[in-house]
Amino acid sequence: MPSPEPLSASLPLGDDWQALLASVARAKGWPASAKELAGPVAELSKVYNGLAPEGSSRGDRALAARLGFSFPRDVAKGACAVRELVSSGLLAAHGGSVSVLDIGAGMGAMSVGVAIALAKAGQRGSIDATWVDSDLEAMRAGEAVVRAASRIGGIELSLRGLSHRDAKEASGVFDLVIAGQVLSELDRAYGEAERADLHAEWLKTTLRERVSHSGALVVVEPALRDRTRHLHRVRERLMASEAVTLFAPCLHRAACPALATKGDWCHEDLPLDLPEWLVPLARAAGLRWEGLTFSYLVLRRDGATLRSVASNARGLVRVVSSALVSKGKREMLLCGETAEGPGRARPFVLDRERDNRGAWDSAVRGDLLSFDPPVGSGRLALDAVRTELVDDLSPRR
Ligand SMILES: C[S@@+](CC[C@H](N)C(=O)[O-])C[C@H]1O[C@@H](n2cnc3c(N)ncnc32)[C@H](O)[C@@H]1O
Repeated sequence: MPSPEPLSASLPLGDDWQALLASVARAKGWPASAKELAGPVAELSKVYNGLAPEGSSRGDRALAARLGFSFPRDVAKGACAVRELVSSGLLAAHGGSVSVLDIGAGMGAMSVGVAIALAKAGQRGSIDATWVDSDLEAMRAGEAVVRAASRIGGIELSLRGLSHRDAKEASGVFDLVIAGQVLSELDRAYGEAERADLHAEWLKTTLRERVSHSGALVVVEPALRDRTRHLHRVRERLMASEAVTLFAPCLHRAACPALATKGDWCHEDLPLDLPEWLVPLARAAGLRWEGLTFSYLVLRRDGATLRSVASNARGLVRVVSSALVSKGKREMLLCGETAEGPGRARPFVLDRERDNRGAWDSAVRGDLLSFDPPVGSGRLALDAVRTELVDDLSPRR
């Protein structure tokens, strides 16, 4: 039954989402309580982490786990992956409609996340979503959620779901194409380099053929090391093409320093916990509920970069680690325009420095900071630089 009230657009997801997801699960005869879902969620997590064979979690148990846990957890990843597009005005409803192609949509967590990102920014209008997936059962469950939720804050969500075999019916270009946690599932039999080549080619073709000139292609992946390093390898290949603009998360197109460091990987870990109502299930399934981790790429065709829209300031960098606090100093790993050029720097500030500490002490992973002059590794004297937090793009907003 359509909800008379719009669903809340807050993150973490409000209690109204818990009631809605439970009612969709019950209508399908699926388990919905934390006690019943703990086992299926733990099994599904093992499969996604490569600790159990894929076939070991199928059918209604897996679908129930996806609806009751993965969906409400992953909506925030979709919302946060487009946050910079929304806050910079490059993804906007403006009272009209945003067309979205959600590839490997599953239950539609990415599309719902995009709706939340727009609604949270106070926008009104609609999302006209096309979902493509090989799993029709998953899409049906997601369709039931969207039918019941039809409006999220000021954003209406309408959709059509297509089997991957009918994907060509989704003709034309879209304002936003999003592929959430699907790259990980594709072409696993290939070797590392060949698979990265294949995925870079696929993304280039998708960007050229399915994304409008001022639109974006967003790829979201789990923050696991192997998945994220694969995304870094794909990024490396994409950067060889001038037709591809890298909007975010990187502030430069130079080689990824994390990829160049054996065993390293660069991912988001935003200060956004699971909704309180989901914590008992996470706890029962032995999963974390603190922080939101994922990796992502936002690609465009029109040359607009986060660097160009974020700030005129020099020395723009992103915080790419948590603060490393040791005796007498506070250190952070930064990536962007550093004193040594595009790449990473690891400056530290001594505790005995008292002045101008605001931006340095409050910055969290994902934040953008500007330093004039640009910052390098080693001791940073805050009285010798102008330091600014680019607040409207902070992940805490
Ligand atoms: C981990 S789920 C992610 C679902 C959703 N995008 C999200 O982020 O929550 C991956 C989805 O990709 C779909 N998938 C896998 N291979 C596919 C293919 N070749 N074409 C379309 N969808 C595919 C799966 O059926 C599954 O629903």
